[in-house]
Amino acid sequence: MSYKIAVLPGDGIGPEVMREGIQVLQQVARLYHFGIELEEGIVGGASIDAHGKPLTDSVLNLAKQSDAVMLGAMGGPKCDGLDYAIRPERALLGLRRELGLFANLRPVKLFSALASASTLKREVVEGADLLVVRELTGGIYFGQPKGVTTLPDGTERGVNTEVYTTPEIERIAHVAFQAALKRRKKVTSVDKANVLEVTELWRKIVARVHKNEGYAGVALEHMLVDNCAMQLIRNPRQFDVVVTTNMFGDILSDEAAMLTGSIGMLPSASLGGKVGMYEPVHGTAPDIMGQDKANPLATILSVAMMLRHSLEQGAAADRIDQAVEGVLNAGYRTGDIQEPGCKLVGCKQMGQLVRDQIDRAKG
Ligand code: IPM
Ligand code: MG
Repeated sequence: MSYKIAVLPGDGIGPEVMREGIQVLQQVARLYHFGIELEEGIVGGASIDAHGKPLTDSVLNLAKQSDAVMLGAMGGPKCDGLDYAIRPERALLGLRRELGLFANLRPVKLFSALASASTLKREVVEGADLLVVRELTGGIYFGQPKGVTTLPDGTERGVNTEVYTTPEIERIAHVAFQAALKRRKKVTSVDKANVLEVTELWRKIVARVHKNEGYAGVALEHMLVDNCAMQLIRNPRQFDVVVTTNMFGDILSDEAAMLTGSIGMLPSASLGGKVGMYEPVHGTAPDIMGQDKANPLATILSVAMMLRHSLEQGAAADRIDQAVEGVLNAGYRTGDIQEPGCKLVGCKQMGQLVRDQIDRAKG
């Protein structure tokens, strides 16, 4: 068995964390006897510099012809003034859209070794283990009309549109219920149905899928997004699977990430099309780029998600997850999760420690 992986390191700390993730991938490929063919592509700010746009057709084709895509991070301060149409973030939205990746899975699991790295009290976060299922190709991110126009009086008017259709809601609801069946069998659907008609529809369709499509074994609750933002930090253990719109999912997943101590710990999978895409939830972190300070664990855990969801190599994925846990239990920390009494390491050393742990687990 051999797999073709498109590797898109991107900008900022993307290349640094990707290097560690790929080395872990190559290591488990050797241990579990499967082949890996890597092909690298330039995206984001790097692609703007080289080709004048953040996502070229050749990179898009590379992604489409692969078994899976590993993505680093895109963007950076020097791109902030650019026109929206050519900003690095567009590459990400373009990839999601073109690959049909409508379901974004962001697991938020607190490693017990990190309970005191969280900004919340240990007794609140300990044991938190939830999965954010974010709709990724619809909603206000893509809805029409959008844009900024100048009015006759010279002032401007900006518009974005939140749109969801029945099939878009149905398919993401299925992803959430299916995921819940493999977990603690609870789905919290998050909306703003008391104000926004589009999410009133969201609530209605999610409830209908639950009732009519054989998910009686899963408990469904509906929660308003403002309440959910509060409940996430009040009592995160109440959540199992949280399913929500593109915009609410963007916001709530960053909030939920902080339960784990650092957004540097969070992997993600974007699914729904033929090719899955895997990326750390964190951004390009330009303030620490090139200094060997980045936390590669989110990327390494994203490799594990890829092995599980796209490559059917669950044993290799488990081995990576356990190795990350082992390294944290042994007291090694990158700067973002450092705490008194722990050993501070850089990006490269953290990657090496995980690989050593993977090797050790074999014997
Ligand atoms: C994310 C990011 C992206 C998003 C940005 C970079 C376009 O914040 O993946 O959560 O908003 O989806
Ligand atoms: Mg985000």
